Amino acid sequence: MNFFDEMAGVWDRTSRPDADRLGNILSILHLSEGEKVLDVGTGTGVMIPFIRERVGPYTPIVAVDSSEKMLREASWRYAGEGVHFIQADVERDRLAGRFDAIVLYSVFPHFRYPVDTIARLVTDNLCCGGRLLIAHTQGRKHLNQIHERLLSRVFSRQLLPAAEQAAQFTRVGLTVTSFGETDDYYYLLLQRVGVGHELSVSIAEAIYG
Ligand SMILES: C[S@@+](CC[C@H](N)C(=O)[O-])C[C@H]1O[C@@H](n2cnc3c(N)ncnc32)[C@H](O)[C@@H]1O
Repeated sequence: MNFFDEMAGVWDRTSRPDADRLGNILSILHLSEGEKVLDVGTGTGVMIPFIRERVGPYTPIVAVDSSEKMLREASWRYAGEGVHFIQADVERDRLAGRFDAIVLYSVFPHFRYPVDTIARLVTDNLCCGGRLLIAHTQGRKHLNQIHERLLSRVFSRQLLPAAEQAAQFTRVGLTVTSFGETDDYYYLLLQRVGVGHELSVSIAEAIYG
């Protein structure tokens, strides 16, 4: 069974992010009332109440996850709260719709093709001027240690320093508006800057030089 399906029933007991930290990291997106948000790798839906608080009660939120069981937990918790749940692997499946903001909280290290996947989400699913946030409420070194230990159970890449990851995105023509990391957080904020904005070089070229 998939690691996240296995963990779904106990996820909220084993992974308990602090509410202040979640709110703070999400505030980097500057969400406002009425904005349409896509929550990628929603898991049990930990970010949903924080997104809802900012976009208001009437705007639909779309929450995506590849794990059926994680998604089931999330949909139990947030039934009737205007959240549309979709089971999809964002590395393989193309998602419909454009959003003002895309949140990827604690999911980026699990992407096998991180630059391609982010580039596709930006070009296919962000509105012009929309923002995409890659975020963690733990520091890179700590996360890399956890992922190293879990490697036999779940695919995880080591996070690059945020500046290096930003440079990798920039080399393919993506716009990184800010990034940062400490021992307590890690984030990159990207923006879709224009309609028909072309990626400047191939993804492989950007990564391997
Ligand atoms: C570490 S968990 C984090 C869940 C949630 N964001 C949280 O912090 O509690 C990563 C989640 O991303 C999902 N995920 C991993 N790769 C994915 C992909 N390619 N497409 C969609 N979801 C994915 C997993 O199923 C899992 O629920």
